[in-house]
Amino acid sequence: MKKYYISQLKEGTNLERVPFVVLKKSIGSNRNGRSSLTLTLGDRTGSILARRWDDEGKDISIGVVYEVSGRVVIYNNNTEIALDSLTPASQFDPRDFIPQSPRNSLALLEDLKKIAETIEDQGIKDLIMLFLKDERFLKNFLLAPAGKMIHHAYIGGLIEHTWEVCKIALTAGEMYPEMNRDLIIAGSILHDIGKVDELTYSTQIEYSTKGRLLGHIFIGAMAVRERARSISSLSPSYLQQLLHIILSHHGDYSTGSPILPMTLEAETVHRADYLSAQVNRFYNILKDKPEERWVKGDNLLGRQLYKGKIKNLTVEEIIMSEIERLEEEE
Ligand SMILES: [Fe+2]
Ligand SMILES: [Fe+2]
Repeated sequence: MKKYYISQLKEGTNLERVPFVVLKKSIGSNRNGRSSLTLTLGDRTGSILARRWDDEGKDISIGVVYEVSGRVVIYNNNTEIALDSLTPASQFDPRDFIPQSPRNSLALLEDLKKIAETIEDQGIKDLIMLFLKDERFLKNFLLAPAGKMIHHAYIGGLIEHTWEVCKIALTAGEMYPEMNRDLIIAGSILHDIGKVDELTYSTQIEYSTKGRLLGHIFIGAMAVRERARSISSLSPSYLQQLLHIILSHHGDYSTGSPILPMTLEAETVHRADYLSAQVNRFYNILKDKPEERWVKGDNLLGRQLYKGKIKNLTVEEIIMSEIERLEEEE
């Protein structure tokens, strides 16, 4: 986490190598012919102008993160940064630039691991643990968003969505004992793992080239197929059913699934996936709007939403209720 965010900057604040992303760049000159470089700098809390005289900013690129030194001044009634220096940041935390999940990603991972421990079939359990104990995979899985815009489009969104899908699907699984609980757990955890490679998230969420060319459904199925090769305990039939859950989880050809759900578990994971995504989408549309008003949905939704009396919880309140809930379960 960095020392200062844009929303905290006040006249007189001294900045020393604080990372910001360059959003815009323009070169101007005054009546005396002095050139001035004007940048719009951004982070997850907003944007601010930054200026330096006698500079044409030839080495400054848009979209790149720089460590900025300078001081915050008032110029033409605006708060802006008088720049001393900018150096390209060799590393930075994407959470400084992209909004973050209100939930504790590590606690969700621990909960998923606990659920995975209850898988009875050794082959399915070995496969899931291969993912959940792989530090390199987990680093991405904990940070990745689950989408660019529609749902869980923030750092930590993928683990939050995966956990929700698993909990929703398991609740359905408890109602219908004829379903295979192991497949529901494993299918839920694996259904979107391709998103780890489909999306990039440094200063904003974008689709990677791999993601655009292959899509997360195919990437995820390939990753599972690949890892399953090393697990002799996994039955070919279970592997096939897990791949079926991943491939069919969007539920329809028009939404990107190459096959429709044809097992109880695949249909359940698909419905849980849809519910998790849709609740998050509704909440994001409604959360900052005034109470008891009709709110225009996004373009794809094509309907208005009624806010009514939904709770506007703070991040701390969500985390506290989460901790209380997990403690109650133990
Ligand atoms: Fe998906
Ligand atoms: Fe999903």
